[in-house]
Amino acid sequence: MSLIAPILSLMPHRGDLHLLRPELPEELEDLPSTAEGEWRRLSESEVWQAQRGFFHHQGVGAWSKGTVPHYITTNPALARAYAQVVIGYWRDWQRDAMGGGEEPFYILELGAGSGRFGYMFLRALLELRQRSPLASLPFCYILSDFTESNLQFWQSHRSLQPFVEQGVLDFALFDAEKDGEVRLRRAGRTLEPARLARPLVAIANYVFDSIPHDAFAVKDGQLHECLFSHGGLALDGKNPEWFQEVLPEFRSRPIDPAYYPEPGFNALLASYASRLGNSTFLFEVAALRCLDRLRRLTGDRLLVLSADKGYVDEESLQGLGEPHLEGHGSFSLAVNFHAIGAHVAASGGRALFGGHPRSSINICAFLNGAPPGGYVECELAFHEHVVRAGPDDTYTVRRGAEAHYESMTTVQLLSLIRLTRDDPRVVRDCLPALMEKVEEADASLKKEVATVVRRAWDNHYPIGEERDLAFEVGLLMVRAGLHEEALFYFNASLELCGAASATLWNVGMCHLALGRFDEAVARLRRARELDAHVIPLNAFRPNKESSPP
Ligand SMILES: C[S@@+](CC[C@H](N)C(=O)[O-])C[C@H]1O[C@@H](n2cnc3c(N)ncnc32)[C@H](O)[C@@H]1O
Repeated sequence: MSLIAPILSLMPHRGDLHLLRPELPEELEDLPSTAEGEWRRLSESEVWQAQRGFFHHQGVGAWSKGTVPHYITTNPALARAYAQVVIGYWRDWQRDAMGGGEEPFYILELGAGSGRFGYMFLRALLELRQRSPLASLPFCYILSDFTESNLQFWQSHRSLQPFVEQGVLDFALFDAEKDGEVRLRRAGRTLEPARLARPLVAIANYVFDSIPHDAFAVKDGQLHECLFSHGGLALDGKNPEWFQEVLPEFRSRPIDPAYYPEPGFNALLASYASRLGNSTFLFEVAALRCLDRLRRLTGDRLLVLSADKGYVDEESLQGLGEPHLEGHGSFSLAVNFHAIGAHVAASGGRALFGGHPRSSINICAFLNGAPPGGYVECELAFHEHVVRAGPDDTYTVRRGAEAHYESMTTVQLLSLIRLTRDDPRVVRDCLPALMEKVEEADASLKKEVATVVRRAWDNHYPIGEERDLAFEVGLLMVRAGLHEEALFYFNASLELCGAASATLWNVGMCHLALGRFDEAVARLRRARELDAHVIPLNAFRPNKESSPP
């Protein structure tokens, strides 16, 4: 194996932020034997408790205020790619007509945060299932998190209600650091070891990077633990800026080979000691234990899909400097997917890795147990929808196109929205360009704009952001002269963001344009009651025969 120097351009990052220190590897200072008690194993540091405090207290605000990055793991391109892989997985298990009767296939999303990924995934999965030979296959998606704050948010979210009513969505408190069973809040039943009739899919996006890790250094073939100090301050995560107070520092000291109670973990550490040159590496102790518990729960029939920034091969673990805790409200560490893959392989399973050297996000599948015919469909779907060209490529192309929306044609902008699998964020970002161009489009292109934008709107899962996307899209439809369509969006804006005079005004003007005088007068009057000086913003240019009362 060649020992290569770290290649800075290979460094994974969360969004645009590099996660590892860009300096060349430096020796970690050894811990003096007289050191104070504040030095702990990283996984036992108080920062993890504070992290939990942050998510608990912030609830959905962690995402709606844009504090915690989440776009790259909660977009329709990723959701659809996962849905393709899950359909492939089910087809592999169904090929041999396994039993299970009416029991659903369960999909458990860990650390589901705002619920936005689950929403997009369910939409994609329902569509694909309908078009596949599995149209009547029963399944249930479980949104889970360790904190009740997120469950409360999902249970009251109107976009999720139709899935609940169809019986394809349930909710659960599931702590990835300790739970081995899943209690379904709606169904009132508990998924327990040896009681699951069918294999389980678990989804973990930006979760393994947020639960306890340990850190190690290899120095001349000898394994050291990297003990961690956060600077000694009392932390509880209540203050959303809490992580800025943390003063992370590492010191190393040699360790015994029997470091963990799990012999498999120690074997993996020993293999790193013998194969990595001088380097540091992270070890996902909480994620590995979580996977072991899920394997026990499912009788070793488990598919885990995970997206995170991290390392997938041993080469990229060579020559790394001190581990870096990246702060963004919460904090995260690059995930050592290589170690997770090696652990899964040691238990008889296998790992599939997506991505390429400059990936913004790594997408991995970990498979334990296998149907008699093997994972033909699942692997094909993973290859086609993740490896060959996948959500990471969609993300990169979108980033590149962003600066050129103004110079792209309407047809090109619509193609981009389709390529991103109907991404409402792309619609939002393209709006100024579409506004500029749509008036010049012919009638059939205007209709196409409405169709494509509506599909993306259907993927919109509001989490309380300040921007009123429905209102803005309504304005676009007015520009296109599609007043019925515009009414749909202005009414959505009233439902989501409350009665605002400008929105009511625009609703009135649309009715007027559609010849519905009474409806128009009622809305325009109401708008004036709310704001005597309401003006139609840039919503509407009344034509000669339509004038406000
Ligand atoms: C960085 S966020 C990722 C959220 C979402 N999956 C995404 O991609 O945007 C980490 C999530 O993990 C959850 N989490 C933290 N510790 C957890 C634990 N021990 N068990 C389960 N979830 C946990 C947090 O509440 C939060 O929802």
